[in-house]
Amino acid sequence: MTAPATIEVHFLLEDLLVEAPAGARLQEVVDACGADISFGCRSGSCGTCRVRVARGLEACSPPGAEERDFLAGLHAPGDHRLACLVTLHGPVDIEYLGP
Ligand code: FES
Repeated sequence: MTAPATIEVHFLLEDLLVEAPAGARLQEVVDACGADISFGCRSGSCGTCRVRVARGLEACSPPGAEERDFLAGLHAPGDHRLACLVTLHGPVDIEYLGP
């Protein structure tokens, strides 16, 4: 099976469904569609963009050491990610949590 060229990203809080190129950064998808997710540092150090991946966690790029350490410091569950760092490779449902 080949990877999809486009993926669907569902923002749960506002029930907004958008298409994005596979491999897009979640941050770029949010910027393009106006989903209600706020960013601060855009580099994984403030937590403003924290989201819960309600579906499709396996379609997200694995967290790097910086993101893993930051979320571990918050005792965040494994389905929490930083929207400024995640890259999407399949359909996902995203719930914005904030800092
Ligand atoms: S915007 Fe600061 S961690 Fe994502």
